Amino acid sequence: MRRICVIGAGYVGLTTGICLADLGNNVTLLDTDTKRIAAIKQGELPIFEPGLGELLQQNLRAGRVYATTSYAEAVPDAEFVFIAVATPTAEEHDGADLRYVEAAATELARNLSAGRRTIVINKSTVPIGTGDWVANILAQHAPVGAQYAVVSNPEFLREGQAVLDFQQPDRVVLGSTATAAAQEVATLYLSSRAPIIITDLRTAEMIKYASNAFLATRISFINEIARICEQLGANVREVALGMGYDRRIGRAFLDAGVGFGGSCFPKDLRALAHMADEAGLHPQLLRAVLDINRDQRLLIMEKLCRLLGSLEGKRVGLLGLTFKPNTDDLRDAPALDIARALLEKGVHVAGYDPAGMERAQQLVPGLETVRTPYDVAKGADALVLVTEWNEFKQLDWNQIRKHLRRPLLIDGRNMYDAERIRSAGLVYEGIGVGCPTPPVALQSHAHVNI
Ligand code: NAD
Ligand code: UDX
Repeated sequence: MRRICVIGAGYVGLTTGICLADLGNNVTLLDTDTKRIAAIKQGELPIFEPGLGELLQQNLRAGRVYATTSYAEAVPDAEFVFIAVATPTAEEHDGADLRYVEAAATELARNLSAGRRTIVINKSTVPIGTGDWVANILAQHAPVGAQYAVVSNPEFLREGQAVLDFQQPDRVVLGSTATAAAQEVATLYLSSRAPIIITDLRTAEMIKYASNAFLATRISFINEIARICEQLGANVREVALGMGYDRRIGRAFLDAGVGFGGSCFPKDLRALAHMADEAGLHPQLLRAVLDINRDQRLLIMEKLCRLLGSLEGKRVGLLGLTFKPNTDDLRDAPALDIARALLEKGVHVAGYDPAGMERAQQLVPGLETVRTPYDVAKGADALVLVTEWNEFKQLDWNQIRKHLRRPLLIDGRNMYDAERIRSAGLVYEGIGVGCPTPPVALQSHAHVNI
């Protein structure tokens, strides 16, 4: 049983802390948000992450998880201190805002114990060189006699399957100038039996950015192919399948749609491009990936304009608001941009989401939220699937069609079988799955339906 402190009880900190406790370690979750800590103490998970709430309760009962807002309580006894605070895009440039990392590192340094060795592990996604910068902060603020080492341990979990990703990671990456410290951190992960890569600090930090950039590149690549498919009459779903059987390519992250969102890909690509710019480079591939992704959100507007004509006064329903299914996270969610663009055009927008509705309403004033997917369809001129939650997979399309003012479905994730939707009397429009629907097709259906 090791004594571990995790600073930042968000998606990453909670997952890391609770899963490490589940492996038998003694974990203190430390966060400056008093409400968050109070909830955790009550066994309430402050985020939506499947399976993590149950693990929190079990480990609270077992006495292996403790939560506090006090550095003085959490840090002095810890052998390992993870930093897992947010690193959002800065206000003044595209780089990462390191103010939370700086505050956490400073406060933790002040609370290190003299005469005791602590390993400080950076789990936040941070610009290359931040590990050295954190080591400097520790050197400035730690009490005389405190011994410490800094290890970079980037996190690769996906929201919605974070517990599984912790328990069965594809790899663990550790970077440090102190190899012994990295090896000690490696012992925390041995039960996962994953490959463990030990490297230097900067390389570890770069592995994280390069991995996210590569996955995002695959998505923008397939979205560009989808656009070409659409003009030339090919089906991108089958193209991805056909490509994916090539073992050099693989099928993962080739789902065309409204593009990537979330708290990582967009901001990490921007930060990597910013670092390259600062280094005097010209990161043209990264820029193209971001540009294509922005355009995918606009594509929904283009499709609606083409099919509905003027959007002013129309009603559009959005199925799904979070950036992906099985999370309540709305950071950089495509649905929010789509809703804002529609509202600007004078459209009435209604949305339904199993986990993100309350927050979405706060973020997009004017967005109406409704209680069921069927309510979204009521009186709408079009329904747009933005987030492929499971509960949208088996909707009663006959019922939906009756609710709609015009029988139009835009499938922003290519989730549905087009023929099934068409057989219920709707016009189906996906992303890159054959030629675009001619506006006339909708008019004739609409004629019957209105
Ligand atoms: P988050 O916003 O969900 O959580 C961050 C938490 O840190 C918040 O609860 C906040 O109150 C707390 N905090 C801020 N300043 C603090 C301080 N000085 N002391 C103590 N607590 C403080 O963030 P997240 O999504 O968990 O991301 C954390 C880091 O992990 C980021 O760098 C992110 O890029 C990276 N990451 C995130 C994911 C993901 O899927 N969310 C995956 C991999 C890596
Ligand atoms: C991502 C990385 O996968 C993870 O390794 C990293 O730690 C954090 O960022 P996450 O953002 O949780 O994880 O979700 P992910 O499943 O990667 O999806 C990101 C976005 O890409 C979502 O908006 C998703 O809808 C979109 N996506 C994903 C596609 O549009 N097409 C795909 O083929 C895959």
